[in-house]
Amino acid sequence: MASEELLAWIPPGHPDRELALQVAPDRMPAHVAIIMDGNGRWAAQRHLPRVEGHRAGIDAVRDTVEASARLGLGVLTLYAFSVENWKRPKAEVSTLMSLLKRYLRSELNTLLSNNIRFQVIGRVDELAPDVRDELAAAEARTAANTGMCFNIALNYGGRAEIVDAARRAIREGIRPDDLDEARFASLLYTGGQADPDLLIRTSGEMRVSNFLLWQIAYAEIWVTDTLWPDFRRQHLLEAVLAYQKRDRRYGGIAAPPVAAGVK
Ligand code: FPP
Repeated sequence: MASEELLAWIPPGHPDRELALQVAPDRMPAHVAIIMDGNGRWAAQRHLPRVEGHRAGIDAVRDTVEASARLGLGVLTLYAFSVENWKRPKAEVSTLMSLLKRYLRSELNTLLSNNIRFQVIGRVDELAPDVRDELAAAEARTAANTGMCFNIALNYGGRAEIVDAARRAIREGIRPDDLDEARFASLLYTGGQADPDLLIRTSGEMRVSNFLLWQIAYAEIWVTDTLWPDFRRQHLLEAVLAYQKRDRRYGGIAAPPVAAGVK
């Protein structure tokens, strides 16, 4: 059964309660990463400009962040803006940045009341100063929180992250013989965090899109046709339930079924 915090948030009789009651708290993914996709298509289906899809996507972000914290996830990472997204029309990029700033301002209290620590991952120094200031303020205000860590991937690329980690290793003078997988992982933007157990992608696309390339080595992937602006707590619960049914092998063989009475 899911956490009390989650159940307290779902009104009695709501169908999400049924889903929440099926969640096994001892098999929770430590880290869920989400590729939020389909905002443009959501807007096109309604004959609206693309930016309206991003605007509607904020409601999905709000719901997903709170549901994840109440569910007891250790880390939630949302892919908000990739290093490739600068190729989009200037007006779309600036709307995305404004939405992000507005989100941070309006949601700070929710982050604080849910004990969520906010963190940006990506090449932050290439963002505009006003965006950087807003991000830094939200990081500072939530730094002492001890609950879920909420990463926003902004100006993020998985290959860029690996290059940045390699540069850091060189700058820090780490000797080649001292560099193993664990040490290298500690140099990534997500250093110190568990790798994602579950990677969710919305809008039916079957791509990884340069997201957390190192960290998703053993992640279970769950793809839904739901477009990001329509994604809600229900879909997160469905993804977690699907994850809990998976047989994770990490390159080994399936665990043999336990015979009745045999320890
Ligand atoms: C992909 O949809 C979505 C994005 C590139 C941006 C996601 C951003 C938000 C939901 C808003 C800001 C985020 C936060 C965390 C406050 P797409 O435009 O590629 O859709 P399409 O594939 O249908 O065209």
